[in-house]
Amino acid sequence: MIISSPGDFREAARRKLPPFLFHYIDGGAYAERTLGRNVSDLADIALRQRVLKGSEDLDLSVDLFGEKLSLPVVLAPVGLTGMYARRGEVQAAKAAASRGVPFTLSTVSVCPIEEVAPAIDRPMWFQLYVLRDRGFMKSVLERAKAAGVKTLVFTVDMPVPGARYRDAHSGMSGPNAEIRRMVQAMTHPAWAWDVGLRGTPHDLGNVSAYLGKPTGLADYIGWLAGNFDPSISWKDLEWIRDAWDGPMIIKGILDPEDAKDALTFGADGIVVSNHGGRQLDGVLSTATALPPIAEAVQGRMKVLMDSGVRNGLDVVRALALGADAVLIGRAFVYALAAHGQAGVAQLLDLFEKEMRVAMTLTGAKSVADIDRSMLAEHA
Ligand code: GLV
Repeated sequence: MIISSPGDFREAARRKLPPFLFHYIDGGAYAERTLGRNVSDLADIALRQRVLKGSEDLDLSVDLFGEKLSLPVVLAPVGLTGMYARRGEVQAAKAAASRGVPFTLSTVSVCPIEEVAPAIDRPMWFQLYVLRDRGFMKSVLERAKAAGVKTLVFTVDMPVPGARYRDAHSGMSGPNAEIRRMVQAMTHPAWAWDVGLRGTPHDLGNVSAYLGKPTGLADYIGWLAGNFDPSISWKDLEWIRDAWDGPMIIKGILDPEDAKDALTFGADGIVVSNHGGRQLDGVLSTATALPPIAEAVQGRMKVLMDSGVRNGLDVVRALALGADAVLIGRAFVYALAAHGQAGVAQLLDLFEKEMRVAMTLTGAKSVADIDRSMLAEHA
């Protein structure tokens, strides 16, 4: 199918993937109201059009945590990315590096740290959850450090997993899940050949290396569910702050009071996020939550945002609302599933093109020019 916009990759991914994988990435928690609002609230943000203020030399780059990014975009940590394309984390990381932006490896990736980090010529970011198994956390942090990771993304909005009701229907979980997945794989031969057969092992690479035994999809659900710690508090994060000498970003902030706590804690940045609408359905969209958080933080740490960013215009909208940069999750996984590394590179090119048009027509010459004054409500 023809890809002319970032949104086209979703349909291309839907056609290629076994349904259990498409719905796992596409779906959200409960009735998916927050998931829907993430997208629609951001898309509804109106920008001020300004004319005859353009420039040929737009600067889309940003400095973030001591790194230069050619776009204010980071590939978000997404579990099981390696099920969406053959050795998917490696392909996505290469695409990100080729376009000058960071890739964030999830704790629950298919490819382990040691497979992804050497494949690219810029440091990747690494994501960690709060887990009961401190031994695992310690060892994975050491491995990340040894692999040259500097920036740690700590996810705090998953002390319990939100119910993703689509998963039981799709075969990701639920009765006879394994057989249903097998049948789906056989009826999606392009995926079965590329990922099912040639993309093995389908381990949780980081976890298998630690446990010293192969792991699979059942372990993904089981290990995560058994390892979440609902009693976690800021205090429990202090040892990580002390053990990690690079930038530490807290991901999953949706309230100005929590943003202030992150500042007090000593975070270098936060990600305003509701986990892509995959946790508590009914909470605010990030487009709505972001402005008061940016106001509370007042530039004292970096404010990133995710959940709902699907294209380059959304990036400009998020920046106008107060973000310093955005993370994209689903958008890149759809592109990866559709066309692998080349798909993700094409997606980032489309993001850049859309950003350039938006900046020209709003009179912004650099990313620093994109601020609240660009919102139509401030006209
Ligand atoms: C895991 O973080 C998920 O959202 O499925």
